Amino acid sequence: MKFNFDCTENLEALLVKTAESLDDFEGEFDPQIRLADERFGDFQANGVLPYAKKIGKNPREMAQRIMDALPFTEDWEVSLAGPGFINFKLSPGFLLGWVEAFGQPEEAAGTALVQKPKEIVIDFSSPNTAKQMHVGHIRSTIIGESLARLMAFCGHKVTRDNHLGDWGTQFGILLYAIKREKISLDQLGEDPIAQLENLYRKGTAWTKEDESSLAEARNELVELQAGNTENLELWKKIKELSMDSFEAIYEMLGVRFDYAHGESFYRDRVDQVYESLLEHKICEENEGALVVFHLEHKRFCKQPLLVRKKDGASNYATTDLATLLFRKEEWQAEQIIYVTDGRQRDHFEQLFLTARKWFDAEKRAIPQLDHVWFGTILGEDNKAIKTRDGQPVKLVDLLNEAIERASRMVIEKNPELPAEEVSKRAQAIGLGAVKYADLSQDRTLDYVFSWEKLLAMQGNTAPYLQYAVARISSIFRKLENEETPGSEEARPPETPHERTLARKLTFFPLALSQTLRELKPHFLCTYLYELSTDFSSFYNNDKVMVEDRRTQSLRILLCRRTKTYLCSGLEILGIETLEEM
Ligand code: ARG
Repeated sequence: MKFNFDCTENLEALLVKTAESLDDFEGEFDPQIRLADERFGDFQANGVLPYAKKIGKNPREMAQRIMDALPFTEDWEVSLAGPGFINFKLSPGFLLGWVEAFGQPEEAAGTALVQKPKEIVIDFSSPNTAKQMHVGHIRSTIIGESLARLMAFCGHKVTRDNHLGDWGTQFGILLYAIKREKISLDQLGEDPIAQLENLYRKGTAWTKEDESSLAEARNELVELQAGNTENLELWKKIKELSMDSFEAIYEMLGVRFDYAHGESFYRDRVDQVYESLLEHKICEENEGALVVFHLEHKRFCKQPLLVRKKDGASNYATTDLATLLFRKEEWQAEQIIYVTDGRQRDHFEQLFLTARKWFDAEKRAIPQLDHVWFGTILGEDNKAIKTRDGQPVKLVDLLNEAIERASRMVIEKNPELPAEEVSKRAQAIGLGAVKYADLSQDRTLDYVFSWEKLLAMQGNTAPYLQYAVARISSIFRKLENEETPGSEEARPPETPHERTLARKLTFFPLALSQTLRELKPHFLCTYLYELSTDFSSFYNNDKVMVEDRRTQSLRILLCRRTKTYLCSGLEILGIETLEEM
């Protein structure tokens, strides 16, 4: 038999072919292969029931007839269940063959899970310049990075774009404050961004105090947008300072981008957007502004998308439309994924509706558009996380605290460890724990940030998974000086723990494809956690170094594959693994 990386494909093809051979077959049958309850099998076909109903047959009888017509195979046992489900239990020989076949999951995934690779642009992190990245940006950065890695792992062509907020109205106030205080941007000291934030705060206060300050601040923005050299120089310098501070964080987190065009990149491309939207009557004038109503939508028929402000300035939506066009035309994007806070759901819904109409009118194919949104990180008081004095938590501080706490854990366990090794492990554990806490929850939910929980060595946490990897590594270190049999000697899995682990390994491709389909990393996390617990039960029950060579060979193979899959999965999540912990 030829093993498919995704076992459901074997079963699906077989069921469709068999159903087609029945004389009452009427076409369009989807077997709907799902994971089965372990007591009954490994996979279950749920599709017979709806199909039989559709063509007016008795589901159970139809399932029985399909089963009777299945060609004989030693690869699985088949049984009928419930009102017309077909259960498949993979044979030990099949499980062994599968586990042996896929030692390089990346290679296998790259051809098996994605038949037609797509050009995908992922827009993530995207902080605003002149401000600190705060804890709200962590989710976009971490979720975006892991989705980008997953899509590349599965064979897609991925472009990572950091859509910086670097052209907003904040610059009017900021430039005004810089000039009024006669500040030189080269002398902002150690934490220049914090200084800029202070200046911005001062500027805001002044513009609230008197009309003339407000007018001056507005004028600074107009001057900037009109290309005034002094203002442009200041703006550029601010962007550089901001990028330096963002990059320090990206480096810590192992995050990278292909581009960081940002909103300013599109400043000369917005006129084209207004003209085209007007020409196709997609937008209209409303009290001097340009807006897009969507009459078919119950809220957006009254609450329009603003694409040009009264004063003629572009905004967030205009740049987003220009950006979309650019990504389509220049990068041939077939899919664009935006990773932001859930509070931007309306913006993206309106943006997508508008873009579809616009592209339609221009007879352009529209890329698939996905808004990958997420909930809020809460403090232990169940409110949006804040520092003790009520300020937003700075990302750097949070990450440093994670490393700090992890290093205490490491030292406690290994007091003799050299400082360099402590620091290496603390980085992997601390940063891994923060990332995993974020990725392992359904992203649409809010979650409570708790140091105790995320650094726990037990439960669904990064340290637990990293520990599982280190434990397997220590098995291999012990085996280094032993003469061990090669995997060709392995016997099929027999004991309940061998079987459960082997079966879980075959589910790896499903975990990847589900994560890819839903763009939700927690599916992969849950899988990796279950794989580790299955491994742990296997290892506690079935000794690896036994007399029988065939048994030993199988168990070594199971250890090796578990390690590979855990490492691949964690790599996709952007979490480092350690050989020793
Ligand atoms: N800069 C925005 C913010 O901090 C996020 C930008 C997201 N991307 C986009 N194309 N709108 O909220």
